[in-house]
Amino acid sequence: MGTKHLLAALACATVAAASVAAAKPAGNAAAGEGKSAACGGCHGPDGNNAPEMYAALKAPKLAGQVPEYIVKSLHDFKAARRSNEVMSPQAQAVAENDMADIAAWFGSQKVQPNPAQNKDLLALGEKIFMKGIGRPDIVAACIGCHAPNGVGNKNWSKVMSNPPAVLAPAIGGQHAGYISDQLKAYKTGKRATDPARVMRDITGRMSEKDIAAVAEYVATLGR
Ligand code: HEC
Ligand code: HEC
Repeated sequence: MGTKHLLAALACATVAAASVAAAKPAGNAAAGEGKSAACGGCHGPDGNNAPEMYAALKAPKLAGQVPEYIVKSLHDFKAARRSNEVMSPQAQAVAENDMADIAAWFGSQKVQPNPAQNKDLLALGEKIFMKGIGRPDIVAACIGCHAPNGVGNKNWSKVMSNPPAVLAPAIGGQHAGYISDQLKAYKTGKRATDPARVMRDITGRMSEKDIAAVAEYVATLGR
């Protein structure tokens, strides 16, 4: 990736350091396996729910997700910053002390990417992911924050001396329907958990076709 694209991506993230609550889970994955039994019914025991299960329940894959992001999301649901009629009550039931272990379990699993569904959209989706969208409605390249293959990034200080405080989730290999639903939720403002409005601003400049294409491409990425 060119430095230009990385900088373009990061320029959009003037994120206040304080806005990402420093969740530092030092969880125990082995303990988390047992504690996550209830989650597996929707997310899959190893965080890889099959496409049919996704179609029925709309629960995302959690395999290989950045543990800090899993904990952040549970807090967002618990505090009603994010709301979903199925997941919100589930989050209420998770004890604070169990979160890090559960996050460590799912985070240590390997995601199974999806086969391409709509090959016609892949080229456009790859272009948006790798390079973003040019003038007039400039969209930063997803790779700049979500990292190669969409593995996510919890610590930009490894890459930059003065990083924005961005906790970018893993998105590679996620269900395409989940990715596009979340992008639409940011676009309409229904989801507003993004520090510095980073995803609301980006999706505000994306068309329905852009969203469908990038979701399709990202879903096929292994990580
Ligand atoms: C009855 C089904 C169900 C169960 C059980 C369930 N979830 Fe969920 N979960 C969902 C759905 C549906 C969503 C998507 C919510 C949305 O679209 O905003 C979700 C979303 C999430 C997210 C957000 C992921 C992301 O990529 O943003 C996390 C984290 C999560 N669940 C963790 C858990 C954990 C941990 C457990 C077990 C304690 C659990 N879930 C149990 C259905 C479930
Ligand atoms: C400047 C950094 C940045 C860029 C560029 C960026 N993202 Fe994000 N993205 C984030 C952050 C930070 C979050 C987490 C926000 C939150 O907690 O709600 C996020 C969240 C998401 C989510 C929700 C994931 C989930 O599991 O719920 C999706 C999907 C997503 N981004 C896709 C994209 C796509 C596609 C692009 C390119 C068009 C992109 N992002 C570009 C920083 C970025």
